[in-house]
Amino acid sequence: MSALLEIDDLQVTFGQTTLADMVRGRRRHVRAVDGVSLQVARGETLGLVGESGCGKSTLGRAVLRLVEAGGGAVRFDGADVLAMSPDELFRFRRRAQMVFQDPFSALNPRLTIGETLAEVFRVHRLCPPSEIGDRVRRLVTTVGLSEEHLGRRPKGLSGGQCQRVGIARALAVGPELIIADEAVSALDVSIQAQILNLFQHLQQEMHLTLLFISHDLGVVRHLCQRVAVMYLGRIVEYAPTEELFRSPRHPYTRALIEAMPRMRAEAALPQKGLAGEPPSPAQRPSGCAFHPRCPSAMPVCREDPSPASRQEGAAQVWCHLYDGTVPAMERLAAVQGA
Ligand SMILES: Nc1ncnc2c1ncn2[C@@H]1O[C@H](COP(=O)(O)OP(=O)(O)O)[C@@H](O)[C@H]1O
Ligand SMILES: [Mg+2]
Repeated sequence: MSALLEIDDLQVTFGQTTLADMVRGRRRHVRAVDGVSLQVARGETLGLVGESGCGKSTLGRAVLRLVEAGGGAVRFDGADVLAMSPDELFRFRRRAQMVFQDPFSALNPRLTIGETLAEVFRVHRLCPPSEIGDRVRRLVTTVGLSEEHLGRRPKGLSGGQCQRVGIARALAVGPELIIADEAVSALDVSIQAQILNLFQHLQQEMHLTLLFISHDLGVVRHLCQRVAVMYLGRIVEYAPTEELFRSPRHPYTRALIEAMPRMRAEAALPQKGLAGEPPSPAQRPSGCAFHPRCPSAMPVCREDPSPASRQEGAAQVWCHLYDGTVPAMERLAAVQGA
C-alpha cells in the first residue's frame, strides 16, 4: 500500500494573547500541532483521537491548508501541499475534502439542498451545466437522501440529514481523501451509527481514503483500520485498531479506553478514567506533557519531553516506559504502581 497522504514533522503555532499579556506587552505562542508525522495509505481509514484541545482539528485543517503550518511537510500523492500555488490548491481541493462537525452551520441557510450541491458542480466545473441536475439527484441518493430533500433548506432537515448533505457536498468533487472532523459528534447516538455506516459504505464503494477525527474512541473503533492517539499536539501511539484495544501501550491510551463505558463492561476494567486537568498548549507541562496525569510517571517523565518512538508489536509508541531510558526494574515498579 502506498501512502496517499504523508505528514512529516508538521508544526502549527498560534499567537494567543490574553488581556494580561497585552498589558505587559507580551506575545504568547502556543504549539497546537507539535511535530506530527503520519501516513495514510490509499483506501485506508485512519482514526485520529484525543481529548478536546489536543490539536486534532488544527492538524486536519493544516493538511488542507485551511490554517497555515509553521513547519514540516504535507505530501499528497507525492505533491508538496504546503508549496502549492492557488491554482494547484484549487485542484488539490478537488481531490481532498473536509466534512465538519456541525452540519447545520456548515450549510448556507438561504440555499436549498439542491442549490447547495449544484453550486459545487458549477464552481469546480465538474460537468456540463445540462448534466448538473442529474448528478445532484444521483449524489443525494448515494448518501441516503431522496429527491424530495432537494427542495428543502437546512432548517427543514434533521441533524443527521444535514450531515448527509455535508457528506454529499464533499463527495461531489469525487475526492480521493476525506478528512472528517468530529463528523458525528453533534448527532444522537442512534444517528451516529447510521452516519458511521454511511462512511463505511462509501469508503468501500468508492475506495475513499479517510482521516476520521474524533474525541471519542468508540466512534473510530468499528470504522478505522488504524488509530493515532494524540495528546497535546503530539502523536503518542499509533496502532492497528484491534491491537490498540487489545493491548494499549501508552498510559494515555489505556486511560482513554478505561474511560469508555462499553469497554469497562466488556473487559471488567475498573472505572479509572482520566484524572487531572485536560491539557492546554498554553500551559504545557515540563517533560512528557502527560506526566501530571500519568499513573506510571517516573522521574525522567518530568524532565525529558521527547520519548523516542518504539515499535511494540504492531504499535508505535512514544513513552519513556518503552523507550529504554529507564532500567527494567524501575519500569516494572512504575507500571505496577499504576
Ligand atoms: N485559530 C486559532 N487561534 C488560536 N488558537 C487556536 C486556533 N485554533 C485552535 N487553537 C488552539 O489550538 C489548540 C488545539 O485546538 P484544536 O485543533 O481545535 O483541538 P481539537 O480539535 O483537538 O479539539 C487549542 O488550544 C486551541 O485553543
Ligand atoms: Mg476539533
